[in-house]
Amino acid sequence: MISRASGAPVVAFRRVSFGYGERPVIDAVSFEIKAGQVVALMGGSGVGKTTLLRLISGLVGPQQGIVEVFGNPLNIRNQSQLYIARRRMGLLFQFGALFTDLSCYENVAFPIREHTDLSESMIHDLVMLKLECVGLRGAASLKPSEISGGMARRVALARAIALDPELILYDEPFAGLDPISLGVTANLIRGLNTALGATSIVVTHDVAETFAIADRIVVFAPSPNGARLVAQGTPDELRVSQDPFVRQFLDGRMDGPVRFHYPAEPIGQALGIGGPG
Ligand SMILES: Nc1ncnc2c1ncn2[C@@H]1O[C@H](COP(=O)(O)OP(=O)(O)OP(=O)(O)O)[C@@H](O)[C@H]1O
Ligand SMILES: [Mg+2]
Repeated sequence: MISRASGAPVVAFRRVSFGYGERPVIDAVSFEIKAGQVVALMGGSGVGKTTLLRLISGLVGPQQGIVEVFGNPLNIRNQSQLYIARRRMGLLFQFGALFTDLSCYENVAFPIREHTDLSESMIHDLVMLKLECVGLRGAASLKPSEISGGMARRVALARAIALDPELILYDEPFAGLDPISLGVTANLIRGLNTALGATSIVVTHDVAETFAIADRIVVFAPSPNGARLVAQGTPDELRVSQDPFVRQFLDGRMDGPVRFHYPAEPIGQALGIGGPG
């Protein structure tokens, strides 16, 4: 809880650049996330949103710049620091699969068993409380194959918050959900943030749901050197933004600064019909 007491941001990017091999993905990005907020990192598919979460959770390290988490620069080579930082985070992965052989109960119990020496009766109470939070206490004994996709997402959420994380990272929590589950999940993210006194980072391209629950939104757009931060602010500030990237993104237009087509030779040429030559 140092971050809260000292007023330091829970997460800070200081001119962070990152690429996979030769391929640049993140270009000199700087932003700060304050304690207690729900912050959305938004941008089109493939722009580098999951990569931002990988940098925050220390799965990869920046090639340039500094990623600060809980007030300290994250050094991915420092295993003990990483372990301690991760213990304070909850991650809901983009394709956050549950262990299919384990019941919902055992899925949520898993990180508690991994990280603590609590007694079975303590674990039982914690698991039931977390499942209650997501409305699925009644499904404790079911296997993932016996519940719906939306319910599975909520069990994964219960697992992500099993250890009362100070920071919760959500990767595309709304993907593939029907409108009702989508609203439920959005409200759950907001509600859990308040209930746990946590900070939440939501990576998504779902504009409507995100604008309804986020305190702040950070928008990224592709560039030849990787994703750049193009705008940030409250939902109300972004709604009136005149930035062409932000407008294209919010209005869901196909044409704009971000092109629909990945750069390629003309279609005629590719099909060997017409074109020069
Ligand atoms: N492990 C990896 N090795 C090499 N390239 C990768 C790797 N992971 C991602 N990339 C590339 O980095 C870029 C950003 O990927 P990332 O998954 O961060 O995007 P994203 O914004 O989360 O996309 P989506 O919205 O589709 O989930 C993509 O061009 C992707 O092909
Ligand atoms: Mg992604």
